[in-house]
Amino acid sequence: MKKVIILGAHGKIAQIVTRQLLTEDIKQTLFLRNSARLRLEDPEKESIVEGTATSLFDLEQAMTDVDIVYANLAGKIVEEAQNVVAAMKAKNVKRLIWISTLGIYDEVPGKYGEWNHEQLDGGYLESYAEAAKVIEASGLDYTIIRPAWLDDKDEIDYELTNKDETFKGTEVSRTSVADLVTKIILDPKEYIGTSLGVNKPNTDGDKPAWYR
Ligand SMILES: NC(=O)c1ccc[n+]([C@@H]2O[C@H](COP(=O)([O-])OP(=O)(O)OC[C@H]3O[C@@H](n4cnc5c(N)ncnc54)[C@H](OP(=O)(O)O)[C@@H]3O)[C@@H](O)[C@H]2O)c1
Repeated sequence: MKKVIILGAHGKIAQIVTRQLLTEDIKQTLFLRNSARLRLEDPEKESIVEGTATSLFDLEQAMTDVDIVYANLAGKIVEEAQNVVAAMKAKNVKRLIWISTLGIYDEVPGKYGEWNHEQLDGGYLESYAEAAKVIEASGLDYTIIRPAWLDDKDEIDYELTNKDETFKGTEVSRTSVADLVTKIILDPKEYIGTSLGVNKPNTDGDKPAWYR
């Protein structure tokens, strides 16, 4: 059975992915801080490892017998990217799915691009851009995912843009991003070496429709 480790497994997108994978022939290692927050639905297919992605030691310990790393992290994202890459190399794991954000290449056009900078500059966007560079320079079989602004709608409705394309739309559901991640875990030869923008079609505008 293929084995995936989910880093930041208490994250909102990560928890949707975990649920989606439960019906598949996949073993999941759920790596998170403060593990008492998670309850296993199917101990045959899931196990929990408590740790922090700011610790190379924790990551290396957790990455035993793993085929795919799905990183759904936040916080000290550059340090985490460096540690994830180092741990994967040490444990000879090649396939990485890395959740990033829109705007890291200045690929978001027009007024929405300006608004996105206003909201995210000052540390967040810069560090996510830096972390993506670490992943892209890693030599690993990575897929970087750049979601639009996220909402919790129960819908799967998305389209993709490549790194060299202008970002489309303003918003997307976490369930949609989870669907993409799940599809890549099930078919990991897809989207190797790509950085994918993810948005809900026909949501162009100056900001997400739900944002006041
Ligand atoms: N909000 C948006 O509109 C938007 C748009 C595009 C991209 N994004 C990015 O998309 C990513 C995933 O989104 P999401 O909604 O799933 O985020 P989320 O619920 O905030 O999940 C991020 C997870 O990262 C974990 N984490 C942070 N530092 C860690 C560490 N050192 N070790 C282990 N885990 C750590 C957090 O763990 P704890 O639970 O322990 O804190 C949290 O569970 C985030 O990076 C977010 O910034 C967000």
